[in-house]
Amino acid sequence: MEFFQVEPAYISKDGCRLIWKGIDEDDHDAIILSGEELERLFELLSKDSTGKVELEDEFSTIWVNTDTTQFRLKEHKTLEVKTAILRKKILEYKKMPHEPKPIKIYPKEFFPSITIENDEVIEVLNSIPNDKNKTTISDSDFFRIISTRRSTRNFDTSRLVEQWKVDKILATADTAPTAGNFQGFEVFYIKNKEIKKRLVEAANNQPYVNAPIVLVFCKDPSRVKINFPPEILAKFSLQDATLAAAYSQLAASALGLSSIWIGMLDEEKVMQIIGTNLRPSSILCIGYPHQKRLPKSRRKLKDLIHVIE
Ligand SMILES: Cc1cc2nc3c(=O)[nH]c(=O)nc-3n(C[C@H](O)[C@H](O)[C@H](O)COP(=O)(O)O)c2cc1C
Repeated sequence: MEFFQVEPAYISKDGCRLIWKGIDEDDHDAIILSGEELERLFELLSKDSTGKVELEDEFSTIWVNTDTTQFRLKEHKTLEVKTAILRKKILEYKKMPHEPKPIKIYPKEFFPSITIENDEVIEVLNSIPNDKNKTTISDSDFFRIISTRRSTRNFDTSRLVEQWKVDKILATADTAPTAGNFQGFEVFYIKNKEIKKRLVEAANNQPYVNAPIVLVFCKDPSRVKINFPPEILAKFSLQDATLAAAYSQLAASALGLSSIWIGMLDEEKVMQIIGTNLRPSSILCIGYPHQKRLPKSRRKLKDLIHVIE
């Protein structure tokens, strides 16, 4: 693993991501530093001092020595970088204005909102991409969220969905696993009221598609740079887009929102309406439900699971 670069942390405006790259194209590790951790590291490096920076997880430490800086990480092998290289990169990085990195490039850039109001929930959510906070989602929270999720087709359109919740839902899509880590999918965040109405028609006239938050998940096989036949790449991108949408759907539930997954859609019509040549796999419609409902039942596990010994 070789130190590669410093990138903005896409979910917080102050921190950063330190990237190490391996030999393979998709082989890289990222360390996410909070604003405070970055500040402490910057202080040491800018003064040419040596010392250590304790990371918030209470187990990992950055040791800045004269020649080499070591990242001794919890549950991970130590990563190293020449202190001079790290100093140069961090000092350069700190010179840049701290605008959040755009997550979406087409058709319009997306910037996560900067002000985040609800500390309590945000602590839980921050733990989704980096698992660094002490308040990580406990097992019981996670299983409670997935086991109580219930789709809704009846949104309370008078209740606005907070922008930071949308940010979290989108950032969560970006944490889903993808084939070869090539992220063979794109998300279209539909804000335009007219386009939402037209999507209703493209989705077999399902009226709830005109929801407070509408996300169209599209397959992007051209991103999947693996030397496999096109049908395999198409399958990978379908799976990438589906998983990302599923992650977003669960994130919405974790945030007290409800959603409906729309698979019944006319692909060509959706592509034409949103102006893309990428095929949609699903539309995720999200909002506050008019009424919270209990989860639906499922078949018994003994009927679902087939054990092969
Ligand atoms: C692949 C897929 C396609 C779906 N398509 C639609 C759809 O077009 N319209 C709709 O109203 N619900 C659709 N749904 C939602 C399901 O009907 C719903 O998830 C299912 O009834 C289980 O309910 P639950 O999500 O509350 O557990 C779809 C769900 C999946 C996973």
